[in-house]
Amino acid sequence: EDFLATVAEKSNGAALRGDYEHMDAHYVVQQNWDNYTEQEHELWRKLYQRQSALLPGRACDEFIEALAKMDISAGIPVFEKTSKELFAATGWTIVAVPGLIPELTFFDHLANRRFPVTVWLRKPEEFNYIVEPDVFHDFFGHVPLLFNPVFADYMQRYGQGGLKAMRLGGLDELARLYWYTVEFGLINTPAGVRIYGAGILSSGGEVEYCLTRGTKSRHIRLDIERCLRTLYKIDSYQETYFVIDSYQQLFDGTAPDFTPIYQKLKSMDVLTANTLLADEIELLPAL
Ligand code: PHE
Ligand code: FE
Repeated sequence: EDFLATVAEKSNGAALRGDYEHMDAHYVVQQNWDNYTEQEHELWRKLYQRQSALLPGRACDEFIEALAKMDISAGIPVFEKTSKELFAATGWTIVAVPGLIPELTFFDHLANRRFPVTVWLRKPEEFNYIVEPDVFHDFFGHVPLLFNPVFADYMQRYGQGGLKAMRLGGLDELARLYWYTVEFGLINTPAGVRIYGAGILSSGGEVEYCLTRGTKSRHIRLDIERCLRTLYKIDSYQETYFVIDSYQQLFDGTAPDFTPIYQKLKSMDVLTANTLLADEIELLPAL
């Protein structure tokens, strides 16, 4: 496989986690729920408990409400069950994948309203931190917001945009938007700023960190072009969080043709993760 060879090369020969032997052409596998051990279900319950206790007053209502309805606190969920509920709500389904998948395959799933969820669970020693996304990050972090119709439409549009960005040489730029919205996004609500990003919501430490004024992070209003230029941190908490006012803002903001944006950005410098531009306002209030 090309993809697996490339990954192995990039990571100095370290193989990807996950079983890539039994997949179809779209990298889809069986979840094989019966193969999870009781220890793994117990680890899921602990992850769920720790994480869900952090959510009130911090996660957005859409996430908290969908998560409660999904009823996945008892153990690693059966994908098929939630997938049916999700399909009834927004026309999305969940597909099981071995782990990280190629960009083209990932975008193709999203463009067809399929969300790929990794089947394996982290080890107990990875309770607080995991390098590659596992079933807890993918399922707990990402699936609840897919019950929201507008966000669900944004995700599909993102997949279509990804396929297009591959042709236009805009992948690095577009990936930043995914990172700063789908993974690490914050949303303004009447009750205050809340989290909707899956990378935060599945993290033991970043849920509190991202809403707390520190010396190393800031909130700024999402401007899509600005976001596309901004590098991000993969090995620490974020230094910048972009705040949206609504999911509609994401959907509408990504409706235009990005071709001229990718072109324009080619001649502009990227911005480091801690940049604050002259006309930007820090939204996170000082202590
Ligand atoms: N509308 C963008 C384009 O034409 C694609 C896109 C969709 C980008 C969704 C981001 C999110 O290229
Ligand atoms: Fe993710």
